[in-house]
Amino acid sequence: MQKPLLSNTDMKDFNYYAPTEVVFGEQAEEQVAALVKKYGGTKVLVHYGGQSAKRSGLLDKICDLLREGGVTYVTLGGVVPNPRLSLAQKGIELCRQEGIDFILAVGGGSVIDSAKCIAYGVPYEGNVWDFYLGKAEPKQMLPVASVLTIPAAGSEMSESSVITNEDGDVKLGYSNNLSRPKFAIMNPRRTMTLPPYQTAAGVTDMMMHTMERYFTKDDDMDFTTDLAEASLRNIKNAVFAVLKNPEDYRYRAQIMWGGSLMHNGLTGCGVSDDWATHQLEHELSGMFDVTHGAGLAAIWPSWARYVMHENLSRFVRFAVNVMDVPNDFTDPEGTALKGIEAMERFYHAIGMPINIKELIGKDISDEEIKEMTRKCSRDYTATCGCLKVLKAEDMETIYKMARG
Ligand code: NZQ
Ligand code: ZN
Repeated sequence: MQKPLLSNTDMKDFNYYAPTEVVFGEQAEEQVAALVKKYGGTKVLVHYGGQSAKRSGLLDKICDLLREGGVTYVTLGGVVPNPRLSLAQKGIELCRQEGIDFILAVGGGSVIDSAKCIAYGVPYEGNVWDFYLGKAEPKQMLPVASVLTIPAAGSEMSESSVITNEDGDVKLGYSNNLSRPKFAIMNPRRTMTLPPYQTAAGVTDMMMHTMERYFTKDDDMDFTTDLAEASLRNIKNAVFAVLKNPEDYRYRAQIMWGGSLMHNGLTGCGVSDDWATHQLEHELSGMFDVTHGAGLAAIWPSWARYVMHENLSRFVRFAVNVMDVPNDFTDPEGTALKGIEAMERFYHAIGMPINIKELIGKDISDEEIKEMTRKCSRDYTATCGCLKVLKAEDMETIYKMARG
């Protein structure tokens, strides 16, 4: 019998590719030298951020372990949140001069993304920004791995790298499976020094990585949907435990593991993903240099209200199964809206903003909204999102709804 044609809301075919070796636990860093050698590294660039990894002693410990394990290295610090192209270009030059064959990021998403950018750039003759502009595709890159210090961006297992070019404050992501890290060392104890704001912004980001995949029209893949809801509930509860007690190992561990699985593709198998909230946010962090997770919280409620009728039953499901809203079967729209309001209360409860004014501490001007719209729509040529495909005018409306 002929198979019925799939409707456009049915499960999608997919490739699930998650090659990163995860070494998780209190003693995880001890394996760093052996892991570098296992994945072919002989001379390493140890890449890190501002102060946190130095202050905690982690950086010194990693360097000591590499030395004791017979691996030579050079260091390059100074990665800032929303990592800059200029530092990555400096890193590319340094790697060429030093004959580096492996890049080890010690830090969070910004350090790992900067490491990926350097790794793309070393064997490439042109400007590494070409990849982010979609002008070229890398044929090879140096291997990258991480010692993760903040669960948030999920870059430790993802195929993405997001870089800000200071020339025009343009923040662009580039995705390629080549860049999935070889290994990720995750010690939840290392995340206990995170300030509450970074903890909360990280949790907001990882939840959004799954929500970008959950709010879809494809509702046949029940396994993926159930996994997404369980992950969201788990992290939503865990964050209160660590905000109350930053040294709670058990819940720091849930959040750390959750952050990786919620962005390594697992919670998106079989569905089309959306990513509009992320794309709208990247213009906010490009223009105002805000923390990415907080920027997402400022946009999502407005995006959700604008698109919810595209699949109302999904928003009802989210309200009931994730946000514990009682289901009013006579009023699905009311139930969906209560779910969005419950999410706003959750953001406030963990110290996140729910609009742009709360995010940047002032009113955003019409001109700034127009500029973000122009950049997000690539000069009015591109759309974003999938649940509802957003044109430039939709982007502008959502920014205006989110201004607060
Ligand atoms: O620079 P230091 O001093 O290390 O301080 C960092 C930084 O200020 C601090 N921090 C990190 N670990 C710490 C710590 N402070 C105390 N104790 C620790 N253990 O936290 C601050 C934020 O670090 P950052 O690396 O910027 O955080 P996150 O992991 O949230 O990364 C954000 C970047 O990732 C991008 C975002 O756009 C943003 O640029 N994203 C990357 C993705 C990817 N590659 O797959 C996906 C995401 O959606 C996201 O777009
Ligand atoms: Zn994100």
